[in-house]
Amino acid sequence: MICIILSERIDRRVTERTSNRNEGPSRDEIIALLAAEGGECTRLYENADRVRREHTGDDVYVRGIIEFSNICANDCLYCGIRASNSVVNRYTMTSEEILAVARSIEAMEQTTVVLQSGETPGISDKDIGLLIRQIKEETTLAVTLSVGNRPPETYRYWKDCGLDRYLIRFETSDRELFARFHPDCSLNERISCLRILKDLGIQTGSGFMIGLPGETIPILADNILLCRELDLDMIGIGPFIPHPDTPLGREPNAYEGDKEIFFKALAALRIANPDAHIPATTAFDAVFPGTGRDLALQRGANIFMPNNTPVRHRKDYLLYPGKPCVDESADQCVNCVMARIKALGRTVGKGPGHSLKKF
Ligand code: SAM
Ligand code: FES
Repeated sequence: MICIILSERIDRRVTERTSNRNEGPSRDEIIALLAAEGGECTRLYENADRVRREHTGDDVYVRGIIEFSNICANDCLYCGIRASNSVVNRYTMTSEEILAVARSIEAMEQTTVVLQSGETPGISDKDIGLLIRQIKEETTLAVTLSVGNRPPETYRYWKDCGLDRYLIRFETSDRELFARFHPDCSLNERISCLRILKDLGIQTGSGFMIGLPGETIPILADNILLCRELDLDMIGIGPFIPHPDTPLGREPNAYEGDKEIFFKALAALRIANPDAHIPATTAFDAVFPGTGRDLALQRGANIFMPNNTPVRHRKDYLLYPGKPCVDESADQCVNCVMARIKALGRTVGKGPGHSLKKF
């Protein structure tokens, strides 16, 4: 009961706030939500779903993702395509190939293209800019990019080329854990990238993994609070899944015996961030095959990101094992996603589905 009253109280306070960002939930309140069990947990999900409906409506925006290169200069300890993983067959799609997939994304009624790769892809920053410009000229798609840390002038150049949005997760708000898992970058650098992107007027997305080894519930609560503090337009979170060919391959998720926490985190995230776009991320389907993303959509999420990467490259972009849709074509993935959305009684969003905050 405490949890239900709490989530309603937080929602009221968060919704009523005008410009004072301090009026969000406290750390203790988030921790209490994450502790919900049984009937309280059901009510937590119902509340998150209500907050989602009241703030973002029943539209689910479909953003087509293209994993255009798995080349990466970084060595994040959890990541399947880290530079030191010599088992990976490296690839980079040409600009023409990417453009062709972008056109097909538009033809399949997806309204955003999300271009994702390792941190230093086989395409230069200049060519990425030219590609953004071409996609904007030839299609009506919104363009989201996710290629890691860059200097401010590169972000500005991409913005001038027409870039709408950028995704870069902070992964964990805990400084020590961040340093342990990221030999190439500090948490401060990551946060600074997010602030620069926001200042440039690029819609900014970030988020974290749930259950990195060493994570505790207070750290998880801090991750949710950091999303709010950063005033993000989009927030993507998903469970950490150990990849056997990485240094964390034998370290289980911190909540191995309690996978329900993944959904509780999502629900608490929605209650703390009512106006953010929150995707039902692929990792939920990897942990809960066939149902994870549907449940995420019913517990706070409002975005679906079908994989549009050409099938021949999919098995080479395995960030973690059990990634779904590795053998399906883009058509199959998109048709499946549209059917899943409709089966939940939701509607497919028309138009770009830009940030719900001021832009
Ligand atoms: N290079 C870009 C960047 O760093 O923002 C985008 C690519 S990166 C592979 C995309 C996301 O995959 C990361 O932000 C991380 O949260 C997630 N990821 C990587 N390895 C994972 C794992 N083993 N389990 C769950 N998520 C993982
Ligand atoms: Fe580079 Fe994961 S370590 S994308």
